[in-house]
Amino acid sequence: MSALRHEIRVELGARAYPIRIGAGLLANAPCWRNAITGKHALVVSDENVAPLYLQRVTAGLRDATLSTWILPAGEAHKTLDSAAKIFAALAQLGASRDATLIALGGGVVGDLAGFAAACWMRGIAFVQMPTTLLAMVDSSVGGKTGVDLPQGKNLVGAFHQPRAVIADTDTLASLPDRELRAGLAEVVKYGALGDADFFDWLEVNAAALLARDPDALADCIAHCCAQKAGIVARDETERGERALLNFGHTFGHALETVCGYGVLLHGEAVAIGMCLAAGLSQRSGRSTAADTTRLRDLLVRFGLPTSIPAGTDADALLAAMRLDKKNASGRLRVIAWRGVGRAEIFDDVEAAAIRAELTAAR
Ligand code: NAD
Ligand code: GLY
Repeated sequence: MSALRHEIRVELGARAYPIRIGAGLLANAPCWRNAITGKHALVVSDENVAPLYLQRVTAGLRDATLSTWILPAGEAHKTLDSAAKIFAALAQLGASRDATLIALGGGVVGDLAGFAAACWMRGIAFVQMPTTLLAMVDSSVGGKTGVDLPQGKNLVGAFHQPRAVIADTDTLASLPDRELRAGLAEVVKYGALGDADFFDWLEVNAAALLARDPDALADCIAHCCAQKAGIVARDETERGERALLNFGHTFGHALETVCGYGVLLHGEAVAIGMCLAAGLSQRSGRSTAADTTRLRDLLVRFGLPTSIPAGTDADALLAAMRLDKKNASGRLRVIAWRGVGRAEIFDDVEAAAIRAELTAAR
């Protein structure tokens, strides 16, 4: 049975698009088929997701000239090499400028396929069909696409908005527990950065979310998407406010790079990164120890790590942070906060202050 529970629009003028959230949406083609343009469609997915859900999507594409490209799963495959393989699949399909690329999977598939869609013939339509909690609440919305380099996360990419985001909450039933928890880190981020009431709601509903209560999950996803849609509509290309969505990410991306892609899940690295950002904020007198503790306690309840893995080199982390996209003219920029619900941009941070936090938080 299919039930559309929420619909949110990302208001970007002629490029506005819907985020549809509910049970059974993948198999309900009328809910997404109007986002498919042209005759050719390529569905990109990964080897965990495709056996479970690909057929639901291909069944709805009966009228298209269709091809599929299935990647090995995991962050280690979000590379230029994988993008080149998608380009080859598009060429073999004969995909013209009116073709559509569909990303069915988590954030790795979404970022990679979105990047390929941004590049193929200078940009073709794409549709996000996220199947992880993390992708439903964050990566499928807002048009950031890209791949990792050995030197750093997401260093090559493009802004390219999808034509629709279809979040079928039934797919969360098969998500491994660790992946669900990683998604909850990005959920906590929304409360921490800009919505204290939502943070309160998460504290009250933590058990329901961990138990995968369908209504709690759908309402939580909708809340995060509405918050993100508003920010993206006001600042699509991150000239200002959108940077706040990177709370915890400067540290988190450095951890992912230094520990090796896939060792820490993205959400786990963000959880640790948010604790580091809170610690740095506290160290600079912006926020209180009580706020840091409250953030840490919620992350712990969600089963997430909150300190740097033993043996991680602080100088290597600092070097990786220097390549972060938010930095300008060699100055380090971190998203700090004034407490729950109040993040802000912290410009020109002293490397010594960051090193102190990286050394203390073990
Ligand atoms: P992922 O795509 O690697 O998926 C996690 C794992 O779950 C994979 O093994 C996948 O095969 C499996 N999986 C996915 N859906 C499943 C399902 N329904 N049932 C069973 N298994 C399933 O990781 P992720 O956490 O979804 O995404 C992380 C990526 O997202 C990172 O690369 C990160 O940089 C990126 N990201 C991008 C943005 C953005 O704005 N573009 C925002 C946040 C994160
Ligand atoms: N995940 C950060 C952003 O979309 O801007």
